[in-house]
Amino acid sequence: TLARSFEEMMHDLQQLEQMRRDFVSNVSHEVQSPLTSISGYALALKQVNLADNERSRYLDIIIAEADRMSKMSDSLLKLSLLESQSQQLRLFTFSLDEQIRRVIVAIQPQWSARNIRFELNLTAVRLMADHDQLNQVWTNIIGNSIKFSKDGGVINISIKQDIKNVTVRVSDTGIGISLEDQKRIFERFFKADRSHSRKYEGSGMGLAIVKQIVSLHQGDIRVESVPGRGTTVIVTLPITTPAE
Ligand SMILES: Nc1ncnc2c1ncn2[C@@H]1O[C@H](COP(=O)(O)OP(=O)(O)OP(=O)(O)O)[C@@H](O)[C@H]1O
Ligand SMILES: [Mg+2]
Repeated sequence: TLARSFEEMMHDLQQLEQMRRDFVSNVSHEVQSPLTSISGYALALKQVNLADNERSRYLDIIIAEADRMSKMSDSLLKLSLLESQSQQLRLFTFSLDEQIRRVIVAIQPQWSARNIRFELNLTAVRLMADHDQLNQVWTNIIGNSIKFSKDGGVINISIKQDIKNVTVRVSDTGIGISLEDQKRIFERFFKADRSHSRKYEGSGMGLAIVKQIVSLHQGDIRVESVPGRGTTVIVTLPITTPAE
């Protein structure tokens, strides 16, 4: 029995080491690509007879790439804080349906120009949880639904409550996620279909953060999706998060 426990422990340690290596290599890669593009366009800017519109286009790219790096480092910091547990949940009682409506309004620029509509079935629920962190959860999940929807798409959001838990479902009619990718979307830096990664902005950190926040609340998150049809993300949270 002892030998078997040791073997299992060795196996876990090896897995941890592999995860650490993957993580470092992911970070390096994700940092490298915006830096390459920033230095490339900065060099191009040094040309003397550059047309004004070209100059301005290069500057826009540099600004966008720097912004991307800054968002990524924010996400990494956020995730490492969440993981270190040094950040305690700040529990408040608030209205969940109200919170979700506010998030939709706050991200209006992402959906209104693309004619994306919402269908809301939000039962009134009061929840005890970390308000700011749950804001991030809905912002990312709904943001993803918008990002991966076609123009004119419909996003359905519903809240259901039972004795102990509340369940929020966010359904879109967007591009969907293959079964293989569904297992990986909660990993840091994971983006389905790398070849399209230029088309859809983001660093693949959102759902890793969401998952961490939901776990800290002792809740659960899962995804159901049919490629080409759409995706449903289902979050279940206890109505009262136990304080530790
Ligand atoms: N609603 C959805 N429809 C289709 N694909 C999705 C959906 N939600 C997530 N995904 C897939 O899962 C990946 C990971 O999502 P996640 O939110 O972690 O990262 P991101 O949105 O690409 O970047 P970030 O959230 O850091 O800006 C996405 O890149 C996408 O491939
Ligand atoms: Mg996202």
